[in-house]
Amino acid sequence: MRLDRCFNFHDFRALARQRLPGPIFNYIDGAADDETTYRRNTQAFEDCDLVPSVLAGVADVDLSVTVMGQRLSLPFYCSPTALQRLFHYEGERAVARAVEKFGTMFGVSSLGTVSLEDLAKNFSFPQAYQFYFHKDRGLNRAMMQRAKEAGVPIMMLTVDSITGGNRERDLRTGFSIPLKLTLGGMAQFAIKPRWAIEYFTHERFRLPQLEEHVDMGGGAMSIGDYFTKMLDPSMTWTDVAEMVKQWGGQFCLKGVMSVEDARRAIDIGCTGIVVSNHGGRQLDGSRSAFDQLAEIVDAVGDRIDVLMDGGVQRGSHVLKALSLGAKAVGVGRYYLFPLAAAGEAGVERALLLMRTELERDMRLMGCTNVGQLSRKNLRFRPRTA
Ligand code: LAC
Repeated sequence: MRLDRCFNFHDFRALARQRLPGPIFNYIDGAADDETTYRRNTQAFEDCDLVPSVLAGVADVDLSVTVMGQRLSLPFYCSPTALQRLFHYEGERAVARAVEKFGTMFGVSSLGTVSLEDLAKNFSFPQAYQFYFHKDRGLNRAMMQRAKEAGVPIMMLTVDSITGGNRERDLRTGFSIPLKLTLGGMAQFAIKPRWAIEYFTHERFRLPQLEEHVDMGGGAMSIGDYFTKMLDPSMTWTDVAEMVKQWGGQFCLKGVMSVEDARRAIDIGCTGIVVSNHGGRQLDGSRSAFDQLAEIVDAVGDRIDVLMDGGVQRGSHVLKALSLGAKAVGVGRYYLFPLAAAGEAGVERALLLMRTELERDMRLMGCTNVGQLSRKNLRFRPRTA
């Protein structure tokens, strides 16, 4: 399999699988418990049909949107994801270059492997800085201060990870940071020497957002441990209201699923929410963002920017979410597999394919800009199960 033979998510996934040691592939690919929510995320789009309009004069298609004060050339963006230099030695830098070319937003993770300052200084894309609420309030303040000094326009607080999701694939392989593999996991690394050579001949793996503040090097801190030990399960709306005030700019909550919480986000001064179940990686059984989107847009869509992510693999998925009222749609695994498969060229190809699909589908739907997409052209199939 070669990059120029990759035409969709499944092709990129297959190529990434060839290249990555099993534990890393499974960290990206896996989800919580029985992975029911993970599967439902994509299935939800397939339960929704499009009813196109014709003869609408669709020569020029404009895909641009404005989200949380940022003008984006595309209505989809790269969601924050952790540990990218483990997937490809260039990690966030490769993603940033592709994102910059396509004029969209990139969520930089607090578990990222290139510093938010480096990315802000060397690339021009609207950065949403993803962070968590730690037990150490001083650390929370310091992280916001750093982001402010770097000129980050959007803070994105993840609110669905107050404890680690049960990722059984990671338990089996021993995936943790730093790697502390089981014997089986080690064997899976041994058979991917190319990955190992690239990983070990490039800059040392780091977590620059956290390393000043957190000792992740001593023991084997798994992602689950990080969530469970470092993050504060007692966090409340009052705590976050304080943060929103302190930030004084665009502030978004990632992982809001209920209408009531969406309303509260507005009450505490947030300017955006991402309807998300964390790619099915946290609460298995959680409803898919696409299934839950209409309810939230109806309740708050005129007062706050509603974004969504989860299961998006196609331009038509983006189109359906926008038609329901999402302002923009995040992709995660959709760009991570291409990153792992081929670095910047992979991410670029994935974004290009998505843009091309979306443009084509807009034309086939009879729409020339995102504002023309509406629920009038959607029909939902009755659930059979
Ligand atoms: C995950 C966290 C790090 O899903 O966002 O693995």
